[in-house]
Amino acid sequence: MKVLGIETSCDETAAAVVQDGRVLSSVVRSQVDLFEEFGGIVPEISSRRHLELIHTIVKQAIDRAGINIKEIDVIAVTKKPGLIGSLLVGYSYAKAIAYGLKKPLVGVDHLHAHIYSAEIGSRFKFPLLGLVVSGGHTAAFLVNDLEFKVVARTRDDAAGEALDKIAKKLNLGYPGGPVIEKMAKEGNPEAFEFPVVKLKDGSLDFSYSGLKSQASRIIDRETLEGKRLKDFLASFQKAIVDQLIERLDELVKIYNPAEVAITGGVSQNQHLRERAMEFAARRGLKLHLPEKWLCGDNAAMIAYLGEKMFGAGYTEDLYSSPLPRTEASKGVKQFQR
Ligand code: KG4
Ligand code: ZN
Repeated sequence: MKVLGIETSCDETAAAVVQDGRVLSSVVRSQVDLFEEFGGIVPEISSRRHLELIHTIVKQAIDRAGINIKEIDVIAVTKKPGLIGSLLVGYSYAKAIAYGLKKPLVGVDHLHAHIYSAEIGSRFKFPLLGLVVSGGHTAAFLVNDLEFKVVARTRDDAAGEALDKIAKKLNLGYPGGPVIEKMAKEGNPEAFEFPVVKLKDGSLDFSYSGLKSQASRIIDRETLEGKRLKDFLASFQKAIVDQLIERLDELVKIYNPAEVAITGGVSQNQHLRERAMEFAARRGLKLHLPEKWLCGDNAAMIAYLGEKMFGAGYTEDLYSSPLPRTEASKGVKQFQR
């Protein structure tokens, strides 16, 4: 079966073709150049850019897969969560193609797709504890095939958001994660102490706003330059990862999963990948990490999960309102059939 995937939930316009779980093509056009000067995404600008690009990106994905669009069996599109205007562009476009080609449409949850990006090339065993660590979300799911239960989520900032905001404050550009990772390589991660936040109610939810404020206060107090700046960034990056690994450890104790996956834009980070591998080895757990090109937003993961969902009978109503009343902009929600 050939599936066309479309992703426009945030600042990447992406399309891909997947056939029987194999990626035939994946095209991702990032909008980051548009947002460097703002230090973050401007939703209105993003949705307009999706509109300009979507047709070309889909055509490129079809061409690179070496197929004709009429050979597509199913269209899969990101339905939630994300920026509402951006989602609407991809969803409406996908719906129009589905209608025109008389093919089924599958609406995919972006976060569930991030988790399944780690299955491309390495099959999951369930129950699986899946972490999504990105610029918009930091959440842990207990996954059983196509059932996703949120077991922890951020109370405030996402991990990537904290990296992006600190990079912005230091005028290092957007997105912050890659530049921080690069500079942190030459820094001492023990130079600054950032304790892992424990929530007062004992919950295992994530929380990054306290860490971000502590880091901001240091930036306000000190002129960070040269080696000292690198030490600061190495310590801050380590603190972000410390919390992820500490929470993961607690969640594994509680839910006793068969396997673990760490996904999302921040999972490209080498320090996180190494710490996660150490953790998994220590606990004797199989760890799935997506290949780096599948960590950030892409449509291959949408098509991949869309194919599975279609196999299980999930399809969208083509005659519904433009974007059905989902929890599109409300963040993480459990998938509903
Ligand atoms: O998954 P993604 O592309 O988009 C969202 O769904 O948010 O994730 C983007 C986030 C940004 O916050 C960016 O700073 C972070 O991923 N990121 C990284 C790295 N590459 C991207 N964070 C740490 N290290 C990286 N190498
Ligand atoms: Zn994402």
